[in-house]
Amino acid sequence: MKKIAALLTMVTICTASLAFGAELRPTQVLMQARAGWMKAMSENVGANKLADVAKDAKELAAQTEKVAGKLEGERKDLTLKVAGLAKTTAEAAEKKDAAAVKAKLGEIKGTCATCHDKYRKS
Ligand code: HEC
Repeated sequence: MKKIAALLTMVTICTASLAFGAELRPTQVLMQARAGWMKAMSENVGANKLADVAKDAKELAAQTEKVAGKLEGERKDLTLKVAGLAKTTAEAAEKKDAAAVKAKLGEIKGTCATCHDKYRKS
């Protein structure tokens, strides 16, 4: 019985370390952060938490602006477009203009999708 328990423990530990060991590519880490900010902003604009929206929009703008610096061509243009829209989103949120925030979030999503349609393989 003890041996079985020990074996099960080993199997559990190995499985867990495999799961955590599966590393994300750097692009995936950046993209998942973007998805997180987008989700939070959609929820927060719905809950009228516009100060939180402004904060996330600024983070998205800063990250995409930084990433764009390392890109070329259309990828750079689309990433800069996200950065510009995110800045406008932050400004709209600071003016407590929820309708403008929603419109800008829609434009950002469209820009993410344009790039994914063209450049995302999976
Ligand atoms: C310049 C093009 C480009 C833009 C702009 C872009 N993405 Fe991506 N995105 C990609 C590519 C390429 C991948 C695939 C990355 C990989 O698998 O390594 C990807 C993958 C993803 C993924 C999957 C990550 C994973 O864990 O596999 C998410 C989520 C994502 N993007 C969200 C977003 C969001 C949200 C935005 C807009 C705010 C955005 N992306 C803007 C190109 C872009």
